[in-house]
Amino acid sequence: MTHHVYLGDSGQHFAARPDQTLLDAGLCAGVSLPYGCASGTCGACRCRIRSGRAVEDPPNRALSETERAAGYALLCQAHAASDIVLDWQAPAGTPAPRPAIWPCRLQERRWLSGDVLGVTLKLPRGDAAFAYLPGQYVDFLLDDGGRRSFSLAGVASDGTIELHVKVTPQGRFGRYIAEQLPDRAMLRFEGPLGAFYLHEAQRPTILVAGGTGFAPIKAIIEDAIHREDQRPMHVFWGARKREDLYLDALVRDWADRYANIDYTPVCESPPKEWNGARGRVDDAVAAQYSDLRDHALYVSGPPAMVAAVKARGLGAGLHPDHLHYDSFDDAHVTWPGTP
Ligand code: FES
Repeated sequence: MTHHVYLGDSGQHFAARPDQTLLDAGLCAGVSLPYGCASGTCGACRCRIRSGRAVEDPPNRALSETERAAGYALLCQAHAASDIVLDWQAPAGTPAPRPAIWPCRLQERRWLSGDVLGVTLKLPRGDAAFAYLPGQYVDFLLDDGGRRSFSLAGVASDGTIELHVKVTPQGRFGRYIAEQLPDRAMLRFEGPLGAFYLHEAQRPTILVAGGTGFAPIKAIIEDAIHREDQRPMHVFWGARKREDLYLDALVRDWADRYANIDYTPVCESPPKEWNGARGRVDDAVAAQYSDLRDHALYVSGPPAMVAAVKARGLGAGLHPDHLHYDSFDDAHVTWPGTP
């Protein structure tokens, strides 16, 4: 029997058969839904079920018991067992940008560290029409039909787009961008996608990045500075080595210039003269925040780090509605056909 799935009070809805996941049903109906791995591991499709009943395919490694108890489900694993209303939060004050296919041209590559490449892409018409919410990601569309997701580190008013690409021996797409893509090559992407952007209006906000998970957090903070958003924001950026904090000076500069921004760099193997925190980033957050009942927490980075910070945050009383994360490695590497 087919059920109806309603997106909050937006008026949007789609039909879902019991043999389809909510994600499949929504995408088939042309509805833009956040997702990454489509296999129950990254959590990008996490959404609260306001009313109705869904059953989920095991295994589901992304959601904690606390999130489950609060009514969250994974759209890529859940099947409708009745009509459903999803707790669909449009960003306050602005309509959610609709994803579309965009061409862009490679404009510049520059190394930000030994293995992180800063990539600048230009929309051909200098297109100011590309609207996104800072923190969102796009999917690059590859010639073989594969897709590769990247969070945007920034979009300038002249239509240039900034990415932070980790280049490793195993990372074929990163190496392709760094070593093989010709200057001024054309690419296509679909976006903007995802629900990782500032939601709460005024809660004190903790933003935790691991490695290149800093990219969407950079976009969020720069936009907040631009809008003169005065909420307290504390950035934690964790890495193994100091040089992995590839824009450390930029974040220190934010913290120096804006009274509402704090910064704690966290290094697992710091040099002797290090003046940040030492060890793991989840420990650093827990050391400074034992009670998160009044906070919002945004986490972006590798799955293990996101899981650790999530667990510490929920353990410190954070409500799941104020937890937002972008567990990007799973989303990025599990696309079929990724070169
Ligand atoms: Fe559903 Fe990754 S967990 S898309």
